[in-house]
Amino acid sequence: MLQQQTTTHFLNTADLPQEEIQALISLALDLKQGKVQKSLAGKTLATLFFNPSVRTRVSFATAMSRLGGQALEISGNNVWSFEYADDVVMDGSTIEHVKEVAPVLSRYCDGLAIRCSELVTKSTESASTGSWAESKQDIVLNSFAKYASVPVINMESNVYHPCQGLGDAVTIKEQLGETKGKKYVHTWAYHPKALPMATTNSQLLAACDLGMDVVLAHPQGWELDPEILEVAQKRVIQSGGSFSISYDQKEALEDADIVCAKSWGALPYYGNWEAEKQARAQLKDWIVDEPKMARTRQGKFMHCLPVRRNVEVTQGVLDGPGSIVIDEAENRMWAQMALLATLLGN
Ligand code: CP
Repeated sequence: MLQQQTTTHFLNTADLPQEEIQALISLALDLKQGKVQKSLAGKTLATLFFNPSVRTRVSFATAMSRLGGQALEISGNNVWSFEYADDVVMDGSTIEHVKEVAPVLSRYCDGLAIRCSELVTKSTESASTGSWAESKQDIVLNSFAKYASVPVINMESNVYHPCQGLGDAVTIKEQLGETKGKKYVHTWAYHPKALPMATTNSQLLAACDLGMDVVLAHPQGWELDPEILEVAQKRVIQSGGSFSISYDQKEALEDADIVCAKSWGALPYYGNWEAEKQARAQLKDWIVDEPKMARTRQGKFMHCLPVRRNVEVTQGVLDGPGSIVIDEAENRMWAQMALLATLLGN
């Protein structure tokens, strides 16, 4: 039987001490400003995409290329369907077990990066078709982490999107400099589909790690997983910030320095899209618009992208001077360069 590996992985920012997060942010900004150079010459990162992506796919490829290494994409119809269950008789549709795939790829490559938000693949309308308890186990990501002998990077799982969190932290630091005492509002936004919570979870942790005064705004019923809220509260206390929840978007945005919008599916409706669809149809006023942004302290608008114009946020906000969504997307690359150089460098 294969032993569980003890390799250092990057699965969730909350696995790292806050000093290490700060070090990654500083390195990303130094790399961006050309103050330092790092090399991954001769190194290969295998990127396994089980879901669609623009930013993550391209920013990982360009990050490796700028460091002198290469990213090798493994996705779509070019790979076998993998099995993750233990003690299984593989006489169905799966061709190869993760117990072979992960160690084999570890012999060829210096790191593995996985995007597997299983929920996205299950339905066109809702991320939530199974049980949250099951999805929360992140079987695909954690199986690769268990059986790989090289670092595994989470490029978005069911629970976390730590590279988005790290990229957002770099962007906030770049914009504000000192982040302590600054107000960060993470607001739910209307969207016609029930999206996964992973990005919100990691974006929230990023603001908590920066010691900001964090306000999470969402309609009643769209509460995040209590375990994630507990981690966020612990991290924000460690960093000297504060944390509160608001059910009033307009009130929450008062005096905000940063407004980050994101939609996600409601846990009480998990696996019951028809019920959620009716409830969420009443929430179309949860859109970030100019009057709401006028309540902020000339706040900057962030969104992980892709974004639905005039649904989650008005085009006036998105195209306006306060929008930093393109910088935010760019900084995914610098953040990942810092991460890759640290994780795969000699
Ligand atoms: N924000 C983000 O992860 O974008 P992609 O899904 O396009 O990679």
